Amino acid sequence: MSTPHNAANVGDIAKTVLMPGDPLRAKFIAENFLENAVQFNSVRNMFGYTGTYKGKRISVMGSGMGMPSMGIYSHELYGYYDVDRIIRIGTCGGISDDVKVRDVLVALGASTDSNFQNAYDLGGTYAAICDYDLLKAADKASERSGVYFKAGNILSSDHFYYFDNHRDFNANWKKLGVMAVEMETHALYCVAAALHKQALGIFTVSDHLYTGESVDAESREKTFTDMMKLALETAIQFED
Ligand code: HPA
Repeated sequence: MSTPHNAANVGDIAKTVLMPGDPLRAKFIAENFLENAVQFNSVRNMFGYTGTYKGKRISVMGSGMGMPSMGIYSHELYGYYDVDRIIRIGTCGGISDDVKVRDVLVALGASTDSNFQNAYDLGGTYAAICDYDLLKAADKASERSGVYFKAGNILSSDHFYYFDNHRDFNANWKKLGVMAVEMETHALYCVAAALHKQALGIFTVSDHLYTGESVDAESREKTFTDMMKLALETAIQFED
């Protein structure tokens, strides 16, 4: 069986999927971090692979940019392919003064300016949060790998570019202690909750919206490797 967006057969995809936004990043991870990786999808060039890390079966697949794209791929992975947990691995823009470029962040909660959760007809606002067992595993992975992370709230925004009258759009989120902005995790946490599955978002801060700092190519590589170590050491703690 396949879906409109995924050519994989059930069983081709591991119980744990790592999801970078960029499908070429997924290819890079498969080639550089996994053993015996086999490609399961190329529909719309949204590459997906399954291989092993320290003997455990792990998949990696792009999510695309933004919440509609993440919503589609995560729904299909959980709902049609029996995936139990998704770890988003992405970049984000720093908002908080406590966050610096190159920091590794974990999203306890994902606030949003999107209407994604309107589909659930709640009559209120759902607090989109990560899975606690995945969070505990990430904490253990941090001790094992020496990759330190900061945990807190992030903003999943529908906007990368703001109009002139919204130039300081992030200021009020900053006042509430939101660490950083990205564009996918709120949808991932909502879909996981609705389907009774697990999700966690791990990020590296690639740029800072207030200090104007951004990472150079060399440290981008190093922080990316740190985030991958953390994500993989988190993923392999689960028995499937
Ligand atoms: N905005 C949204 N997503 C991002 C950013 C940003 O500034 N930086 C990295 N991902």
